[in-house]
Amino acid sequence: MKTARTRLSARYLTALRTHLGGKAANHANRAQSLGRSALAGGLVTLDLAIMHEQAVVALASSYDFAHARNGVLKRAGVFFTQALLPLEEAQQATRETNRQLQQHNETLRRHTAALASGNRRLEREIARRKAGEVTILQGREHYQALFRESQIMQKKLRLLTRQIISAQEEERKEISRELHDEVVQTLVGINVELAALTKGTSAGLHKLRAKIARTQRLVANSVNAVHRFARELRPAVLDDLGLIPALHVFCKGLAARKKLKIQLTAFRGVEALGGAERTVFFRVAQEALNNVARHARASTVTISISRMPAAVRMEIADNGKSFMVGQTLLPKNNKRLGLVGMRERIEMVGGRLTIKSAPGHGTTVCAEIPFTPEKTKK
Ligand SMILES: Nc1ncnc2c1ncn2[C@@H]1O[C@H](COP(=O)(O)OP(=O)(O)OP(=O)(O)O)[C@@H](O)[C@H]1O
Ligand SMILES: [Mg+2]
Repeated sequence: MKTARTRLSARYLTALRTHLGGKAANHANRAQSLGRSALAGGLVTLDLAIMHEQAVVALASSYDFAHARNGVLKRAGVFFTQALLPLEEAQQATRETNRQLQQHNETLRRHTAALASGNRRLEREIARRKAGEVTILQGREHYQALFRESQIMQKKLRLLTRQIISAQEEERKEISRELHDEVVQTLVGINVELAALTKGTSAGLHKLRAKIARTQRLVANSVNAVHRFARELRPAVLDDLGLIPALHVFCKGLAARKKLKIQLTAFRGVEALGGAERTVFFRVAQEALNNVARHARASTVTISISRMPAAVRMEIADNGKSFMVGQTLLPKNNKRLGLVGMRERIEMVGGRLTIKSAPGHGTTVCAEIPFTPEKTKK
């Protein structure tokens, strides 16, 4: 650094000498070239001033700087000014750069502030969305649970529909068989008797009367059988006279056919229930009593219809053998429709069905339907 500076001092001295001697043509260029070298060497204005002063001192013996008229001092000054030019320009450029830098800094500061506020907004938005996501997730879980529930319901419904279809089929088979076995056989019998009547005219009046009486009995049996089918399908007495008379008729028929003792006690106000509710009670009693007749091997059944604070209760209790209610009602075990149908019917009118069965105590079916006195008869 020192040698470079010394070399430059020497070059400056030579150049100034040449300039003062007025020999070279373009001294301004040389001076500026020296200035640029000084700049490249990292020198500043003060260094160049020292260099100039040293050169002037060194040349003082050759030139008369003190005498103003010969203009030596002025020309040395011009040279020095030219040499300073690159440094001055560089300083200006630096100032300009600094100014621009400040401007950039200011812009950067503004952008940083804007970015910071944008970041805060983004953070708030992220927090809001996260909270939203939690809500959506909870909602999704809720809907998934509902969906699963609805699938289970659909499955149950399909099973129930299949059971209903097969039960209907069973019922049709039963009616068809009974029509064939009872009504058709009886009609065939009547026909045979009538044919015999037309042929056997020679028989005595007494015999003829006996044959007619037999034929009448056959006709009466058929009429009874047809009546029974009609009653069991939809007892007209239920619509015409009410629940209690319909139950009396049904119990009388079943007791006679199945050799069963059936006792019926009923709260008369039950007839104030709506038509749908009375039909439900009738069907439940019908199914429960048919079950007693088919499965319980009971000797006695009691049906009691009583008034509760906000409901009407019907209890059908037998003294027959018991069965495992819970297991029987499990969907996988229960392929029959009786008990399930009873419960479905009761629940359709907002009621409740409970079945209790215990060894030595038989079975009790209890059906409750909501009832308020002001409820009008439909
Ligand atoms: N009172 C009862 N005493 C003893 N067992 C009974 C009684 N009621 C029902 N059960 C038992 O519960 C089972 C289911 O009864 P449910 O009425 O559902 O079917 P089911 O009578 O066999 O056929 P259906 O669908 O024709 O009614 C019966 O098969 C029987 O084993
Ligand atoms: Mg049954």
